[in-house]
Amino acid sequence: MTDTFTRVEYASTFLLEQTVLRPKIGLVLGSGLGAFADAMSEAVRVPYSQVPSFPQSTAIGHAGQMVIGKCGDIPVAAMQGRVHLYEGYSAEQVAFPVRVLGRMGIRALIVTNAAGGINTKYTQGALVVISDHINLQGQNPLVGGNDEHFGPRFPDMTQAYCKPYREMAMRAAQRLGKTLHEGVYAGLLGPSYETPAEIRYLRAIGADLVGMSTIAEVTAARHMGIRVLGISCVTNMAAGILNQPLNHQEVLDTAERVKGDFVALLRAVLGDMAKDVDADGVK
Ligand code: HPA
Repeated sequence: MTDTFTRVEYASTFLLEQTVLRPKIGLVLGSGLGAFADAMSEAVRVPYSQVPSFPQSTAIGHAGQMVIGKCGDIPVAAMQGRVHLYEGYSAEQVAFPVRVLGRMGIRALIVTNAAGGINTKYTQGALVVISDHINLQGQNPLVGGNDEHFGPRFPDMTQAYCKPYREMAMRAAQRLGKTLHEGVYAGLLGPSYETPAEIRYLRAIGADLVGMSTIAEVTAARHMGIRVLGISCVTNMAAGILNQPLNHQEVLDTAERVKGDFVALLRAVLGDMAKDVDADGVK
């Protein structure tokens, strides 16, 4: 079988052939959060099924296409939908599209997700900048032989989520007059939601948010030296916090309700990030 690097090169060349734009910023849009990509101009939309070697998303609320276009005057590549480990994909497969974005030339990545709120300061619909993560998925996309084309064997994760980008996001929210929290994201395998005891455990180890995505993508991005901003939408309070069961429809309904604020925040922060990427600032 062809090695990952060759397949990544093939897919990134294919995608770049679909457009004259050369995005320096990539986005991964999570469950119900794809609206940002609908408003892009000069956009080409390529279904994942057409991109060589791309995994296909099966989750409800994930459109499954790469949208390359402009947000204002900033060229961006947005993944409308992602794949998850719980769908049966390996961490390497989950990270594959981010690898492709990296080889397409992006230097910064915004990852978004729907998450359960563990921190009781959050309420349903809150937006949270991810300050750090805890990988409880039992998997890592860098397992196996290391390909130095991508990055080093033991990448540093001290600043997995770029501090200057987090500050940019906070300032953008302030400009918009919106509350933006900061918190630690715990990534679990899923697909079952957590038990209340698991949520108490996650709180005890320092998690503010819980979800089933993001970790593999961010790990691969950092491996490639791509700077990351992560934003969670608290679609529900985590299990056992409110006296009610969790369901996926609630996740989608909340994401739908906050999508205006969410898109406004992404637009506002993108401008600052683009300046940083052009200046090739902080590592
Ligand atoms: N747990 C895990 N993943 C999630 C949740 C949750 O409560 N909400 C949205 N994604």
